[in-house]
Amino acid sequence: MTQIIALAGSLRSQSYNKNLVKIAAKGAEEQGALVVYVDLADYPIPLFSEDLEAEGTPAAVNDLKHLFAGSQGILLASPEYNGSISGVLKNVIDWLSRPSQGIDIGSAFDGKVAGIMAASPGGLGGLRGLGHVRDVLNNLGTIVSPKQIAVPAAYEAFNEGGELVDAELGQRVNALGAQIASMASRLNDQ
Ligand SMILES: Cc1cc2nc3c(=O)[nH]c(=O)nc-3n(C[C@H](O)[C@H](O)[C@H](O)COP(=O)(O)O)c2cc1C
Repeated sequence: MTQIIALAGSLRSQSYNKNLVKIAAKGAEEQGALVVYVDLADYPIPLFSEDLEAEGTPAAVNDLKHLFAGSQGILLASPEYNGSISGVLKNVIDWLSRPSQGIDIGSAFDGKVAGIMAASPGGLGGLRGLGHVRDVLNNLGTIVSPKQIAVPAAYEAFNEGGELVDAELGQRVNALGAQIASMASRLNDQ
């Protein structure tokens, strides 16, 4: 079965980006994929240091890397911090890009397909950061869909249930999740 990993680059409990990626995840599930939703707040991952790495990869990193390694697709919602990728997300990607126990170095990202999205209170919806997220993932060998989504004015974009108020936008996010599931499924068949 095709497995998709879905996560947001935020630790915040009320994160807009967590809401957003869950909508895309639903689209992937409707397409028949098994979606593993990851809340990074459940993974106590220290700031990357090669000294720390030399002492042994932290268990939380290994656990996450196994989940990535077993997935063919990635759905990623990244908050925009200072026009770029959030520090939390970059730190996790840096750890996952390193060798760890029993898993190949490139197994988290290389050859996977990804759908990227962002939500922000600002007018551009985190669009500027998405270019940086795309570059980082491309550098790691991930094929990133051109159909990225940025949700502006996030403080009024979601209802109490975490759904997008704009149904047409919600449908586009759902369709991105479905597209990644479909592309990942074709990769899985090869
Ligand atoms: C350090 C910092 C830098 C930020 N920089 C930007 C920015 O450049 N552009 C933007 O649209 N929002 C920026 N924001 C606001 C975030 O988009 C906002 O906090 C958002 O809710 C974070 O995503 P989350 O809700 O998923 O946690 C910044 C927030 C922080 C804490």
